Amino acid sequence: DKKITIAIDGFSSTGKSTVARRLAKELGYVYVDTGAMYRAVTLYMMRKVFVSEGNFDEEAILRHLPFINLKFVFSEEKGYGEIYLNNENVEDEIRYMEVSKHVSRVSAIPKVRKMLVKQQQEMGKEKGIVMDGRDIGTVVFPDAELKIFMTASTEQRAKRRYDELMDRGDDITYEEVLKNVKERDFMDSTREDSPLRKADDAVEFDNSEMNLEEQFEKVLKIVKDKI
Ligand code: C5P
Repeated sequence: DKKITIAIDGFSSTGKSTVARRLAKELGYVYVDTGAMYRAVTLYMMRKVFVSEGNFDEEAILRHLPFINLKFVFSEEKGYGEIYLNNENVEDEIRYMEVSKHVSRVSAIPKVRKMLVKQQQEMGKEKGIVMDGRDIGTVVFPDAELKIFMTASTEQRAKRRYDELMDRGDDITYEEVLKNVKERDFMDSTREDSPLRKADDAVEFDNSEMNLEEQFEKVLKIVKDKI
């Protein structure tokens, strides 16, 4: 089989990462969660208090970008790469609601995107990669052999995210999650630099009515036709 690049984009909590991870495992490919990278940068800036409720110091953010080192380390237990921020595993911490609240604003900064896109392109240069995010098919890998654009209703997505956070024991209401999902959808698709949109040659997938197994089978069939 030849190795290809698979780009999966879509709004928050469409189940992109679940499908992407499984696909990578099935094919023996590397999986990269680019949302985790934007979240880790955001977490770093929150710890420095450049970003907080009522404060957003873009200049300080830009000044500190060179001090951020990100890497993914494969976890046998989880079966995928967990993200490390300056050698600290932050895989769990980046999923907290506080980070979700600020991440879209940090991600809208062109220099942040430029830095992360470069790293993502580097990780994918050998192909054999499944990457998920917002701009993978449009900006990071415009030549990807397979592009998938996932959608699902807002309520369905918020419910999914809420269930995930409840499973971990977070103290959160469904309304808060729904509000955050809507805000991020809006910011991610209206920002100036690399807004979320479906690449012209992407296959669109509405998974509101599909369970995981069905989604996976369908994606795998498309992939098998390409390799
Ligand atoms: O995928 P996830 O929901 O974890 O991504 C968190 C946020 O990171 C998104 O809401 C978006 O603001 C940003 N992001 C991005 N470009 C990507 C991936 C994520 O701007 N490729």
